[in-house]
Amino acid sequence: MKSKVTQIPLLAQTRQLDQPERRRLLAATATLGLAPWLLSACAGTADASSAAHHKPASGTHSVTRRRLGPFDVYPIGLGVQWHSGRGPLAVADLYTSSTTRQGGIALIRRAADLGVNLFDTAEAYGPFMSEELLGEALQGIRDRVVVSTKFGFDIDPATGARRGGVNSRPDHIRQVVEAQLRRLRTDRIDLLYQHRVDPNVPIEDVAGTIKDLVKQGKVLHYGLSEPGLQTVRRAHKENPVAVIQNEYSMLYRGPEAQVLPLCEELGIGFVPWSPLGMGFLAGTINARSRFEAPDFRATVPRFAPDVLPANMALAELVKTWAARKNATPAQLALAWLSAQKPWIVPIPGTTNVAHLEENVAAASISFSADELKELNAAVVAIPIRGARLPPAVLSATGVEAVPKR
Ligand SMILES: NC(=O)c1ccc[n+]([C@@H]2O[C@H](COP(=O)([O-])OP(=O)(O)OC[C@H]3O[C@@H](n4cnc5c(N)ncnc54)[C@H](OP(=O)(O)O)[C@@H]3O)[C@@H](O)[C@H]2O)c1
Repeated sequence: MKSKVTQIPLLAQTRQLDQPERRRLLAATATLGLAPWLLSACAGTADASSAAHHKPASGTHSVTRRRLGPFDVYPIGLGVQWHSGRGPLAVADLYTSSTTRQGGIALIRRAADLGVNLFDTAEAYGPFMSEELLGEALQGIRDRVVVSTKFGFDIDPATGARRGGVNSRPDHIRQVVEAQLRRLRTDRIDLLYQHRVDPNVPIEDVAGTIKDLVKQGKVLHYGLSEPGLQTVRRAHKENPVAVIQNEYSMLYRGPEAQVLPLCEELGIGFVPWSPLGMGFLAGTINARSRFEAPDFRATVPRFAPDVLPANMALAELVKTWAARKNATPAQLALAWLSAQKPWIVPIPGTTNVAHLEENVAAASISFSADELKELNAAVVAIPIRGARLPPAVLSATGVEAVPKR
């Protein structure tokens, strides 16, 4: 039997558990070393997703929602990583795309109309600007969506000046969250990530601070972005981690070795960032493409002129498979991610409504077991040359937090 179509995410339902129920659930899951939402799913106490089908406003197809940790979401989310552009096109992404403020707001609302209910942003995107636009765009539809944002860089909360490096000191986290609630025009953050691990702050202190914010109702769940593996285990022990957000795509498959198995073991959801390989997998780059500042790709070794022609073998593979599946390259790249695990939800970024609509429609593309085996083998056979990020940015990934004394 199909369950009724609902726009209410699972997190809204978990809030309805009474305190004794919540305590029993937490005690049981702690004994099993599992995330509490896994047990609630097994017990059927708060499950809206098992057979939930969502029909986008376009009415062209219905799509099964996904369980992402404790959340019940559309299989494709939206990344809102914008900063100030020039002139009338005041909203720019990290690459070469831009739009107006009203264009950005309309794009977010269009995503929600299409059924998208996972929105990803961060204090650092702008700084502040992306959260402000998201907050404005979600007025009136806030309760239908999962708002995820991040703290963790050392940004002056008053001026937005970047002081350099990371900062996850408990007092700083609390201050940032207050400002985020204002910018996002909400009373709670559904999913709050630590953007990068602060090596100088024990992760138990970070997880404990978030636990207090959860008790106050200001945060519902938390996640980690690009953390070290031991830091994930320590954080999870202190306060169950809901979601890990790392770079993952056909272009960068690093999480497959250890991070995805760890998520599977602990019942943590996974959100791939740059799921389109910063546009590379969407078919918008060729062997002669050259990138210039401020395009972030100008600093990324895998897009440098000496390795790009070799790496184009992957873009060609994506194009071939896209034609075979009657899809676009971007759709093929997103569908490939979704096919890897049922608890993966990519968050492609775009400033373009046509691209948004294309990306959202990727949710209806699936692979047979044989197709997936063949495609995975072909992807693995193409070595990618050049690092995924510039050295300074790369050095902030996979970091372990100092032990708690
Ligand atoms: N946790 C972290 O540290 C971290 C780091 C980076 C990003 N993120 C998150 O991940 C999100 C996505 O990452 P991203 O924006 O870096 O990379 P991405 O999603 O892999 O690629 C975005 C690029 O692809 C283009 N594009 C999107 N859809 C397309 C389509 N259908 N056809 C052709 N081109 C298309 C966009 O241009 P158009 O605007 O022209 O469509 C843009 O240039 C961000 O918004 C952010 O929320 C998180």
